[in-house]
Amino acid sequence: MGLLTGKIAVVTGAGSGIGRSIAILYASEGATVAVADINDEAAAAVLREVKEWAPESMAAAVNVTEKASCENLYRTVQERFGRIDIAANNAGVSTMNWVADLTEEEWDFNMDVNAKGVFLCTQAALPHLIRQGRGRIINTASMAGKRGVPLLAHYAASKWAVIGFTKSVALEVARHGITVNCVCPGYVKTGMQEREVVWEAKLRDMEPQAVIDEYIRNTPLGRMQTPEDVAKIYVFLASHLADFVTGEAVDVTGGADLV
Ligand SMILES: NC(=O)c1ccc[n+]([C@@H]2O[C@H](COP(=O)([O-])OP(=O)(O)OC[C@H]3O[C@@H](n4cnc5c(N)ncnc54)[C@H](O)[C@@H]3O)[C@@H](O)[C@H]2O)c1
Repeated sequence: MGLLTGKIAVVTGAGSGIGRSIAILYASEGATVAVADINDEAAAAVLREVKEWAPESMAAAVNVTEKASCENLYRTVQERFGRIDIAANNAGVSTMNWVADLTEEEWDFNMDVNAKGVFLCTQAALPHLIRQGRGRIINTASMAGKRGVPLLAHYAASKWAVIGFTKSVALEVARHGITVNCVCPGYVKTGMQEREVVWEAKLRDMEPQAVIDEYIRNTPLGRMQTPEDVAKIYVFLASHLADFVTGEAVDVTGGADLV
């Protein structure tokens, strides 16, 4: 028996990186997964991997910045499987810039996907979870949601928003048997990070490898974090092991948040 046997999970941003790992690990622990992403092709590719563990799983197109799209995702999953146990709101974006040069477009893009996207997905999931009288909501925040980070002020603002939102919703819905938590990763090796390394190297006039070396130096456990490191915490928070955990922002950073 897996930790999530028989559960129905929706994972956004599941077409790559951390979301892909969450979808695969959930499936390997027995869950049936809706692999949701704005990138249809990426979602379809991950679905093929997920189906090796959970053949009933599905792919779904979603733009988390659009209310109707989020509602449609949750309605579709509800109709197909008859219930929803886990809402993993993981989709996110980043850009990098000095605040002095930051454009309104960059601010809005980061806030729309990272903060508003978590709000809209949570709101779309809630009626289903409340009707059931149980459910798990897990949001991807960041180490940048608890500290200041140069070049990422706008991104950090969006992730502080995710943590504040998570704790507030947890208080509102506890009486319905629903837990709401978020996960705060550190330096995770994904497409997002590859893009950030190039931007940061340019903005700080460094070599990309020097940026990577600095990330590793700032991680006491001494290596870059993998998406699986994050997905394991997502399994824990979705499982019975976390029955009495709510409103938490769980760090999984290899100690980087302490440096
Ligand atoms: N990589 C890191 O170091 C790191 C650290 C802390 C937190 N995070 C967070 O982890 C989450 C996943 O990031 P990742 O590193 O796997 O990045 P990634 O770019 O590999 O994956 C993000 C996924 O989200 C999807 N997406 C983007 N906009 C969307 C939208 N509007 N609607 C639906 N899907 C959308 C993308 O298509 C992509 O598949 C994000 O919330 C990110 O902020 C990442």
